[in-house]
Amino acid sequence: MDVLDTATWETRAAALTAELVAAGVLSDPAWRDAFAATPRHLFVSRIIDGPASLSAGDTGWLDAVYADESLATQTRPTGDGATGREIASSSSSKPTVMAVMLERLAPEPGHLVLEIGTGTGYNAALLSHRLGASNVYSLDLDADLVDTAHEHLAAAGYSPHLTAGDGSQGWPGEMRFDRIIATCAVTAIPPAWVDQLADGGRIVAPLDAGTAGPLLVLDKTADDEVSGRIDPFPVLFMPMRADVSSPFAPGQEPSAAATGIPHYGTTTVAPAALLDRPELALFLWLHAPGLRLAGSAEHGVVVAERGSARAEADLTPLTEGSWAVRQSGPYRLWDTIEHAVAAFDVLGKPGAARFGITALNVPGKQFVWLDDPDSDHSWPLGSGF
Ligand SMILES: C[S@@+](CC[C@H](N)C(=O)[O-])C[C@H]1O[C@@H](n2cnc3c(N)ncnc32)[C@H](O)[C@@H]1O
Repeated sequence: MDVLDTATWETRAAALTAELVAAGVLSDPAWRDAFAATPRHLFVSRIIDGPASLSAGDTGWLDAVYADESLATQTRPTGDGATGREIASSSSSKPTVMAVMLERLAPEPGHLVLEIGTGTGYNAALLSHRLGASNVYSLDLDADLVDTAHEHLAAAGYSPHLTAGDGSQGWPGEMRFDRIIATCAVTAIPPAWVDQLADGGRIVAPLDAGTAGPLLVLDKTADDEVSGRIDPFPVLFMPMRADVSSPFAPGQEPSAAATGIPHYGTTTVAPAALLDRPELALFLWLHAPGLRLAGSAEHGVVVAERGSARAEADLTPLTEGSWAVRQSGPYRLWDTIEHAVAAFDVLGKPGAARFGITALNVPGKQFVWLDDPDSDHSWPLGSGF
């Protein structure tokens, strides 16, 4: 078994599995067996940690491999020539998060499963252990990653169906799957997934909602529709992208400053009221898709980016309890935020679990709703497919 003797990795995999069980995220015995029997070290021979990296055999590598951590395995430039900064474009996800998603997926024997985002191949190995590799289909945008995942999976004794392609288009051809799991985050459900999901099927996917990062668990409710509640378990994933050389999704590249004539005003909503209330994150994102919050309790910067449109608001302290606000871009972002904060309170401070999503196989016909699909309160999801 490669650089390790069997006992070493098996002991570590068993310890990691026990940790996931103790954390309450791994209750299905079949998934427990899969985690205990799958050698993660075969999938992450190099772990990138900022400018440093750990390779197979290095001191600390094995501890890192069997820790409950996300491990970056590929980075791409952010395009900011001044800093030369790179961010992760592929990783082996945090085992806790993988366990939560696989348990929500709840496949049954004989089910065909499609994974979007092969990455290292580790998740495809867990699926192969559970369902048999011939029932597992996995694709990644990056053909090089697919090639190395193929090698990793072969080393672990599995040969699921792999291909390179854009996951937003689903698996090439006329396939239908009982389960679709995405390991990259989406801003809406690609229509191809709705079409490729069999009757009784389920999609599990992270929603790309800024810092909110909730999980979507959607069931097929009609030929052309999936629907389900948002699962508040926080799962921050890298976005589903369209360009192999960039770590960003289309339209999420940090752009230049917002254009247009700025609007100046004042506010009594403190920046801290946003930064210190993570329960607000999803609600704010629904009102200002692409929202990012930065700054401190005193100085706030709020940016919402979608496509080439960038709206911005900068807050600076004025007097005790009031701030000067400068808003620029295609709409008044701070006004939108203030409205959303007020609406959040009026609606009884709804947590993420009160929201759900209904997605048709048509761009633009996808909604987040509060409490039930026919609610008076709903917000459109982004499209882009
Ligand atoms: C967190 S990693 C996946 C981890 C993987 N499941 C594993 O077990 O190692 C996210 C992956 O999604 C892939 N990805 C991003 N956009 C994609 C797209 N449009 N289609 C398919 N894969 C995509 C990335 O290349 C990256 O490998």
